[in-house]
Parts: sequence; structure tokens; C-alpha cells
Amino acid sequence: MSSKLIDHSVPLIRAVVVHPDGRGENARHAAERLEEAVGLARALDLDVRAEEIVRLRKTTPATLFGAGKVDELAALIRAAEAEAVVVDDTLTPVQQRNLEKAWDAKVIDRTGLILEIFGRRARTKEGRLQVELARLDYERSRLVRTWTHLERQRGGTGSTGGPGETQIEIDRRLIADRIVRLKNELEEVRRTRGLHRKARAKVPYPTVALVGYTNAGKSTLFNRLTGAEVLAKDLLFATLDTTVRTIRLPQGRPAIVADTVGFISDLPHELVESFRATLEEVGEADLILHVRDIASPDSAAQAKDVEEVMAQIPTPEGKERRILEVWNKVDLLDPEAREIVEGEAARRGRSTPDAVVVSAWTGEGIEDLRHAITRRIDDDPEIGLVLHPAEGEALAWLYANGRVTSRQHEETGDVRVGVRLSAQALGRLERLYPDILNRD
Ligand code: GTP
Repeated sequence: MSSKLIDHSVPLIRAVVVHPDGRGENARHAAERLEEAVGLARALDLDVRAEEIVRLRKTTPATLFGAGKVDELAALIRAAEAEAVVVDDTLTPVQQRNLEKAWDAKVIDRTGLILEIFGRRARTKEGRLQVELARLDYERSRLVRTWTHLERQRGGTGSTGGPGETQIEIDRRLIADRIVRLKNELEEVRRTRGLHRKARAKVPYPTVALVGYTNAGKSTLFNRLTGAEVLAKDLLFATLDTTVRTIRLPQGRPAIVADTVGFISDLPHELVESFRATLEEVGEADLILHVRDIASPDSAAQAKDVEEVMAQIPTPEGKERRILEVWNKVDLLDPEAREIVEGEAARRGRSTPDAVVVSAWTGEGIEDLRHAITRRIDDDPEIGLVLHPAEGEALAWLYANGRVTSRQHEETGDVRVGVRLSAQALGRLERLYPDILNRD
């Protein structure tokens, strides 16, 4: 058992991070996973005193680790004077309780950790509700009685339960009630957001969504592009929910950019479900910028994780998905590695998705990126159409399937529309509304 003691002077909660390596992962992968877990723990303001990879040949139902390991870790935890232990795996409620007893420290598992971080980072009401729901879902399965806010609620509502109802049953019922209430609230928030999105869809600007593995530099790039300040720290999950701003592309054309959630490997299923709505918005974007930390040794694996999530996001019918990869943090590469990366990006430039090398930090490559964005979203030919007053439905179709760049109402009631349409959309327009296309 090799351990690394880390010196930290900040007076925060002292913690030990343990990554159980039970999948026969190769050493490098396990080390990266441990590093990620330490990053997550730091994002939660834990003072990580020691970190450890523990090989797991088989799992012990009561404590996950075998008795010998539990004791060994107890010694490490004591030496580090740790008050908390992060176990980078899923623990059953029983394992969690037994380990807390054995180690005399608070134990938090990977799902608990991620939920906690998401909860702290939530900026919008929707984000907060999503996380709260995910957390309830998680806690429902491990009903513990130390639930302070439930206790509070019980007092507040005077809901003491019917005769014969056990404490656990009351807790379950309260959670179920709360879940229903939250779902309703979330529904309402989403409805409003849907309206906002519709309003935005009427703006003749293309939309660009930033996605990427957590810590890839999305917020920093977003700030670079929009010149605005949004929370960007050296913390994972600085971005929980979407922020939207306008940018100017070359030739002064505006576009709308959305900074979205950070992705992470093995996101707890409770959260994947919660973020479906946010991700749907990504699917509707005219262009997706996949921001990658090209200096991370784990860059390829992270990209794969992101692509897997993206594959689950639906694209509106008839819309083709366009992705541009942004290889960020190039300033961190030594000249040799940089040359390789730039060569690779140049080769990729001829295929899809192509890649632009940038540093959101120094600003290099950002102009090239703006041009690349413009090329990707403005390559559809623009056509001029005249619509009669009764053709409102066709007008709505144009808004949904193309990008309306101008709209002028004639005295006759006709509407003159300039619209950019992909070849695919043009074909469908021809089938759906042949008259409009053949009109002078
Ligand atoms: P999440 O919100 O967790 O998904 O992260 P994010 O992808 O939005 O990353 P963020 O922009 O918060 O950046 C993460 C860290 O990387 C911060 O410390 C940034 O300062 C740093 N960073 C971002 N871009 C660059 C870059 O081009 N070069 C260098 N050296 N650091 C960068």
C-alpha cells in the first residue's frame, strides 16, 4: 500500500481520498481516476491530506474493503488526522455506516460527493431543483434518520403521520411528497424556460453551445468569446447550468452562445436524468463547440465520455448536428507536443469534426476560432421568399428549420423573408410548400 501525504496549510475539513481499484484498471488509469477524485474533493473545499489507490480483488459486503484493508486505512486516516474520507466508488448505506464506525470519520461516496458539488454550484433555480431532486432520489435508497431538513419540515407542517406509521414510513412519505412538489416546480420552471427559448428561436441569430469534460475550460472560453465574467475557477463543475450570452462574429454578425454543464465520467444516474433538459438545448444548437483540455493526458478518454453523452442527446428532426472541436490549453504544451497537436488539428481540418487549437487563457487562436465558427454556421445559402398572409404555418416552419435573417412586411400583407437553409431543409421545403419556392 503506497500512500502520498500532501502538505496543505488551509484550515479546511481534513480528508483522505481513497480510490478502490477493482476493475483491474491499468496503473495509469487508476492514478488518473484518483486524481479526478482528489479534484472533486478539493472542489468541495476538503483539505486532502492523503490519497490512496486500494486494489480490490473482491468486495466485502459489509465494508467494501476486507478487514485488513479497513484497519490499514484506519491507521492512515488517523495519521492524516482526517475528519472525512472520500471513497471513490458507490457504497451501500450499510457499508457507509460500518466504515464511518471503523474509521471514526465521516464517509462520503462518489455519488454523494458529486451531488454535493453540483448542489453548491447550482446557479439557476432549475439547476438547484434538478440537484435537489437527484439528491432525494439518492437518499431515498439510503434512508438515514439524521436528515436535518426533514426533521425541520416535519415540525413545520405538523405532519406526524397516521397511527401505527413508523418513523421510516413517515420519512419515505415525506420524501415522496417532496419529490412530487419539486417535480411540479421544475415543470413550471422548464415551461418558462421553454418560452424563453422559443422567443430566442425567433431571433435571427445562430446558436452555439459549449460542451466539454469538466474543467476543460468552457467557462474561460465563454468569457473570452463573450467578454463577460462568469464564474470560472480551478474547480470542477464551476458550470452547472446554462448561461447564455451574445457574441459578435467576424463581419459583426451576432450569435448566441450557451455555456453548459461540465461532463464527467460515471456521472451518477440520478444526475444524468436531471440534466436531460439542459442537454436537449444543446441538441438544438446550430453548432456545438466541444471544448477539450488538449494538455491533459486523459484528453482522449474524456472526449470519448463526452461523445457518449452527446450521442444520447436528440437532434430536432431534419437538423444535422455540427460539431467543432476546440483544443484548449495549448499554452500548457511544450513545443514538441504542440507541434504534434497542431499537425493533428490541421489534418482534422479536412474532415469532420474539425478542430481549432486555442488557449482560452492567453487568447491565442481565438480569432481563428471565431472564423471557424462563422464558416460552420454561415455556410448555408441564403434565399429570398415571399409568403402570403395565410401562410403563417410555412413561416413558422422556416423559423424552426432554417435561420431567418430578414423579414419585411409588405402593404399587401405579404411577408418577404430572407432565410438560410441547409440543402436538406431546402429539399423538405420543396416537398412541403412547393408553391412558395416557385413564386417570383
Ligand atoms: P466546469 O464548469 O467544471 O465544467 O469547468 P469548465 O470546463 O468551465 O472549466 P473552466 O473554464 O472553469 O476552467 C478550468 C480551469 O482551467 C481554470 O483554472 C482555468 O483557468 C483553466 N484554463 C482554462 N482554459 C485554459 C487555457 O487555455 N490554458 C490554461 N493554462 N488554463 C486554462
